[in-house]
Amino acid sequence: MTWYNHPNEELGPILLDQETIQKRVRELGAEISRDYKGKLPHLIGILKGASIFHADLVRSIDLGVSLDFIAVGSYGALTKSSGEVRILKDLDESLEDRDIILVEDILDTGLTLHYLLHNLASRGPRSIRVVALLNKPSRREIEVPVDYIGFDIPDQFVVGYGLDFSQRYRNLPYVAILKVAP
Ligand code: IMP
Ligand code: MG
Repeated sequence: MTWYNHPNEELGPILLDQETIQKRVRELGAEISRDYKGKLPHLIGILKGASIFHADLVRSIDLGVSLDFIAVGSYGALTKSSGEVRILKDLDESLEDRDIILVEDILDTGLTLHYLLHNLASRGPRSIRVVALLNKPSRREIEVPVDYIGFDIPDQFVVGYGLDFSQRYRNLPYVAILKVAP
């Protein structure tokens, strides 16, 4: 199937193809299933980018799970470096005494996850771990404890499998490099 006439003026090479992603997501699901044996992890997806990864990951976990979602946005370019994050849609449920797994699409500067981890930790969970499909280690501005990582990738802007450029390309089943970084 052809997606957006790939390659086109915007889309560069495929970095991670569909099979590679699906295999790694199954591995992460198996690892989480082992680590949380006897527990009922509560998997919180960060909208919108992590929605596709979250949907595939929870189906790779061989345990009872519960799900929730949170949407965040930054206050804008000026406050971006402060790491201040605005909650656009909060969780539906309490985190009291639950084992939380925060599901993120990509860990870049780390500012978003740093803020969210502090925010969620204040809500009384029993434990919190983080799973990120992609990680750009060279971009990190603040250290974030990440427990599960799908792939380390180079410092290039990527789209697909939930990740967007101006809200597009989220539905690509693979991850491709954007030719012109935004
Ligand atoms: P940070 O770790 O706070 O810098 O922000 C991570 C967020 O920036 C992710 O959740 C994405 O929404 C966005 N982001 C970072 N790098 C990329 C990329 O290469 N493609 C698409 N979105 C990205
Ligand atoms: Mg995101």
